[in-house]
Amino acid sequence: MTSISKVEKEIPDENRSHIFPVHPAQGKLGVMIPGMGAVATTFVAGVEAVRRGIASPVGSLTQMGTIRLGKRTEGRSPKIKEFVPLASLDDLVFTGWDIFEDDMHTAALKAGVLERDLLQKVKGRLRAIKPMKAVFDHNYVKKIDGPNVKKGKNKLDLAEQLRQDIRDFRKSSGASRLITMWCASTESFLQPTAAHQSLKALEKAMKENDETIAPSMVYAYASLMEDVPFANGAPNLTLDIPAILELAQERKLPICGKDFKTGQTLMKSVLAPAFKARLLGLSGWYSTNILGNRDGEVLDDPGSFKTKEESKLGLLEHILQPQLYPELYGKIFHKVRINYYPPRGDNKEGWDNIDIFGWLGYPMQIKVDFLCRDSILAAPIVLDLVLFLDLAQRTPELRRLGIQEWLSFYFKSPMTAPGLYPEHDLFIQMMKLKNTLRHLKGEELITHLGLEYYD
Ligand SMILES: NC(=O)c1ccc[n+]([C@@H]2O[C@H](COP(=O)([O-])OP(=O)(O)OC[C@H]3O[C@@H](n4cnc5c(N)ncnc54)[C@H](O)[C@@H]3O)[C@@H](O)[C@H]2O)c1
Repeated sequence: MTSISKVEKEIPDENRSHIFPVHPAQGKLGVMIPGMGAVATTFVAGVEAVRRGIASPVGSLTQMGTIRLGKRTEGRSPKIKEFVPLASLDDLVFTGWDIFEDDMHTAALKAGVLERDLLQKVKGRLRAIKPMKAVFDHNYVKKIDGPNVKKGKNKLDLAEQLRQDIRDFRKSSGASRLITMWCASTESFLQPTAAHQSLKALEKAMKENDETIAPSMVYAYASLMEDVPFANGAPNLTLDIPAILELAQERKLPICGKDFKTGQTLMKSVLAPAFKARLLGLSGWYSTNILGNRDGEVLDDPGSFKTKEESKLGLLEHILQPQLYPELYGKIFHKVRINYYPPRGDNKEGWDNIDIFGWLGYPMQIKVDFLCRDSILAAPIVLDLVLFLDLAQRTPELRRLGIQEWLSFYFKSPMTAPGLYPEHDLFIQMMKLKNTLRHLKGEELITHLGLEYYD
């Protein structure tokens, strides 16, 4: 990585007090993915297709988004990827771990998300990505089992094997920076225990094979020990324990999570702020899904579903703030169901029945029927997280924070500093993200006050 002093020299003197130094995105960026299933393969195949110019990165803020700078009258709205130095898609290299032995092309065919024709065009690159042996515990994902699994004398030993995988990939790929992006299955519900309370306790517990150390924690520990940032795309506890926060803080490594905000929850984080903005009351929100991919099968297990349910339920309370509006939001019946229904494959259908009330308490109903494609919605999120986490690791001002709350835009259950409630409103999250980028570049933050236009 280029030294920071060299980067600082590149910043014009007149802006020095405002602009935060960012190391340039030089060299390759290695993306390491635990879980080479539907989301991971749709992401990697998509990046390859975009690189070849045969498809468009729809849904990706880093590739298509713009950012307004200065006053509305200035007409300055560069593309985000031109405003901040992000890695180019051409510089991404991939590897992954999975409990199945399928290479990325075979796994993508089995996931059945992308058409065979498209996959044929990127076959060479995908074929070359073969899964490394996974750290896996059937007790945490009851519905699946596979042969491509590491053996070790204890969990610390398994972490050491992962660390060796990481060092090997760093060498073989020639990557100058790495990111770990968890796209593996949802693990059984877990609450923090004594084993999670400090780094020392975590290491001791791994050595003793404590059952409350989930495989995802072993990956997170191994990544951070190798100075690799980690993003959590599933609702697992993984990063939300004091031991991992301590490690990220100590090593100044960006982390973020959890659970990609894709279909139904995305809609909730758009609609609920609208109700609150207009002071419309809410008496009930019933959400159900049918889903037929492997993720749906895994979530058919009550333990894994409980992890997902917790992640999906939190946001209404945080957005609607019933403590401030007891009359409007004090008695909400909120229910979330996920039903495994194989004929639909990755094409999920999410239904919402929303009971609201208006002027003088008169009831109304809204029905949402979202016929979505799960991995098509998730893939651009994965791409953005990879590129933004890499930006964070090259930016000391962000790196030192550990938790990257500005990326909460992408998550159902965003991580925040301990004791702070998360922002779930999609539009607040978007403003937080863009203002973070403006802040880094010394641009005025946009508050939408706008009185000056009438002076
Ligand atoms: N829209 C979405 O698709 C979406 C949204 C939010 C969250 N998620 C989460 O993202 C994750 C991936 O979703 P998916 O649809 O790709 O699921 P998937 O079942 O297709 O893929 C998950 C892969 O992880 C592998 N795996 C399981 N445990 C592993 C371990 N310990 N190490 C390595 N590999 C392991 C499985 O073998 C499988 O190939 C899930 O946890 C899901 O809940 C997905």
